[in-house]
Amino acid sequence: MLRTHSCGELRKEDAGKEVQLTGWVGRLRDHGGILFIDLRDRWGITQLVVDSKEEIYNRASRIRPEYVIKVEGVVKERPEGLVNPRISTGEIEVVVEELAVLSSSELPPFEIEGNQEVDESIRLRYRYLDLRRSKMQKNLILRHQVAQLIRRFLSQREFLEIETPFLTKSTPEGARDFLVPSRLSPGHFYALPQSPQLFKQILMISGMDRYFQIVKCFRDEDLRADRQPEFTQVDIEMSFIEVEDIIQLIEGMMVYIFQESLGVAIEPPFPRLSYDEAMEKYGTDKPDLRIPGEIDDLTELLGGEIASFSRGGNNFAVKGLFVPRGEGLSRKKLDVLSQRAKESSLSLSWVKGGGSSPLKNKLSEETWQRIVNKYPFGENALLLLAWGERSNLLSFMGSLRFELGEEGIKDKKPFQFCWVTDFPLVEWNEEENRWDSVHHPFTSPREEDLDFLDSHPEKVKSKTYDLVLNGYEVGSGSIRIHRMDLQRRIFNLLNLKEEEIEQKFGFFIEALQYGCPPHGGIALGFDRLMMLMSGEDSIREVIAFPKTQKGVCLLTGAPAPVEKEQLRILGLSLRK
Ligand code: AMO
Repeated sequence: MLRTHSCGELRKEDAGKEVQLTGWVGRLRDHGGILFIDLRDRWGITQLVVDSKEEIYNRASRIRPEYVIKVEGVVKERPEGLVNPRISTGEIEVVVEELAVLSSSELPPFEIEGNQEVDESIRLRYRYLDLRRSKMQKNLILRHQVAQLIRRFLSQREFLEIETPFLTKSTPEGARDFLVPSRLSPGHFYALPQSPQLFKQILMISGMDRYFQIVKCFRDEDLRADRQPEFTQVDIEMSFIEVEDIIQLIEGMMVYIFQESLGVAIEPPFPRLSYDEAMEKYGTDKPDLRIPGEIDDLTELLGGEIASFSRGGNNFAVKGLFVPRGEGLSRKKLDVLSQRAKESSLSLSWVKGGGSSPLKNKLSEETWQRIVNKYPFGENALLLLAWGERSNLLSFMGSLRFELGEEGIKDKKPFQFCWVTDFPLVEWNEEENRWDSVHHPFTSPREEDLDFLDSHPEKVKSKTYDLVLNGYEVGSGSIRIHRMDLQRRIFNLLNLKEEEIEQKFGFFIEALQYGCPPHGGIALGFDRLMMLMSGEDSIREVIAFPKTQKGVCLLTGAPAPVEKEQLRILGLSLRK
């Protein structure tokens, strides 16, 4: 090693030791002939001191931030008043006796030290410098620790870490595939896996009971702060289990990793909501339970009267959101919300604490009294009312609840998990005029709903569970279909033709006929989990080399054009 210690290692007990240190030059300060240099590496910062009387002072005064240097010197305890309690080495400094520049540095485009706001495109372009910043180092170190904890937790429970291919066939997660042309089979393409779904199920058929993998998945979809085209899943599958087993396993895993990495005690069991309940109460299938309050259904109370002066229509519903501290909702803000409702073909109104409401004269006295009595209207309280088509209305109220509640949760308990279960098995695809799977075609329906499969597929719920943390979906899974007769019925329902089934997942259907155990699993979005554990707003903050919203890697310039010759070898040509 070129060093005897790291930059975060020396303590006052080391005073008097001869040491060698290496690292990057951080802050430099010249205090009247004494040069202080912050020497930085992954482990911390050590203060170096160079006296102007020393011969090396001239050399030292020419170094600049981000130079890589090596020093030899003696550890000295800092005088009492100069101790820096904010850094682990704050009680010592190293008096430099020898200094060598190992490599110099251009002037960096932004400061590595401190918390200066830097445009994200510059950070991504110079990611190697960005990753030197302490926040990014902390995030990646935490990510590593959590990955290790997950491996340990699952290995202790006899899970096997098994790799599955990246060059494969399309997987059924519903996004667009990234395709890779094959040189050896011209005109044929691999698809990068959207998840290892079919492989993990095949591993269960193979008897590899208890599989896991921390694995990259690839999806060509529109990107957002919590979505990347390549992202990481903690992918899990088990045999001979029921929904409850996965829920218990994951709750235990969350308790373990939060405790061991952050020292945060998470309390199981996590609240559970059915999909219907979540939509009805929170207007979303990923509710943030830190926000107090639920959406009320006021259709019975107000529906008749409101429909008499407003557009009614199919699935008409009236929903209310009570805001106990509505003082922030100025008239102007309420007008903005009304306008937004209108844009979603909905109507919005309100009742204020003092009893004023645009609706007052439109409702009968009796109905008015029932509203006023239903809620504890204080001076600042406000009831927001909206009406229109039910599912549209619910998602509008859900976003309203989130928007109005968001301010209040900043200092609330930082981690609130819940499970959302029993999603519908299928949803109607208006454009294509057919039923689509809500999860994927291998998701098991609930036994008690099987009678509806042919007559009312919309009523059939599935054995599904999503793990939600602070309003983000951080995991999703299901019990799978393990019998061919049921699988055929589902394919029929989805109107999948024999050739299509054969072409898409013939290999899997064949495997299903060779003794398939009942099985199920889950995949956690590792980047999302790490984003929340690190207190970040974007998964790009916890991925070493992420892509922009446009799917571009600003560091390498990918995606990029390729040579004509490369296309020719692959049997491809580009359209003008
Ligand atoms: P699903 O498609 O719900 O399920 O994905 C599982 C979890 O992965 C995360 N996730 C993403 N994270 C970042 N960027 C993306 N583009 C992205 N897409 C998904 C989410 C999500 O909850 N095979 C099934 C799992 C199973 O049934 O076992 C699957 O992939 O946190």
